Amino acid sequence: MKKIDGKEVAQKVIDECKSQIAELKVKGITPGLAVVLVGEDPASKVYVGAKARKCEELGIYSKKIELPADASQEQVMQVVEDLNNDPAIDGILVQSPPPPHIDEDAIVRAINPNKDVDGFHPVNVAKLVLEDPSGFIPCTPHGCLRLLQDTGIETSGAEAVVIGRSMIVGKPMALLLMGKLGNATVTVAHSRTKDLAAVCRRADIIIAAIGKPEFVTADMVKDGAVVIDVGINRVEDSSKKSGYKLVGDVAFDEVATKCSAITPVPGGVGPMTIAMLMKNTVISASRR
Ligand code: GUN
Repeated sequence: MKKIDGKEVAQKVIDECKSQIAELKVKGITPGLAVVLVGEDPASKVYVGAKARKCEELGIYSKKIELPADASQEQVMQVVEDLNNDPAIDGILVQSPPPPHIDEDAIVRAINPNKDVDGFHPVNVAKLVLEDPSGFIPCTPHGCLRLLQDTGIETSGAEAVVIGRSMIVGKPMALLLMGKLGNATVTVAHSRTKDLAAVCRRADIIIAAIGKPEFVTADMVKDGAVVIDVGINRVEDSSKKSGYKLVGDVAFDEVATKCSAITPVPGGVGPMTIAMLMKNTVISASRR
């Protein structure tokens, strides 16, 4: 069983970004990323902080905008509008999920698609479906695909099962795997899937993105399958100082005994998401 090292592959992507950033700087261009956080969700705070720190490490200009949990829809829309008009900003990311009173779809639609480095705007979703390379591909599924490719895992012709149908991971993941980059045969499973375990056992590649701690168990995995765990779940752990530990959507220890390769949590998909975000920001800046 191979433990897939997300940090190592992410570093390769980061190194590619560094050389592209150096080339842009020669032309007088510094890529800029704005990260908007509405509210106090502790996990979102951690993600937003990590994104801003990675920007600093790479020499990407980063602007972190934090709004209180009771910020109005109009306030958030105004922030997005200002960033759309800011020539120093190539990428805009509004951390999901916002507080419940915020209409997230309206916020995403307000972002200039050419600065939508998350790839969530309908224009970029359409471009993903159309396999139009001028769009931005969502960072987490793109990171999963890159992880498979750089680990030497053949997706072409493979039977892939994506568990979860979210707009952030499941749907774009299925599109990437079935498209010309992945060439896999794809099944999308979700909470209403009948006999999910049997569906999963068909898979050469399982992508777990359902947001349920340790949901995928050994009986759902074929011998020799590859398992990519997108989940980041906080579960109580009184032995930790923080009072919680992070686990994925996969019961790692038991599944690891059956599969040929698996990503750990943390240290698997997480670092790839940030690396692909940096990549999209650099791509955006290069199109200025
Ligand atoms: N929340 C969880 N993942 C993501 C992501 O990739 N982008 C944004 N904006 N919010 C998220």
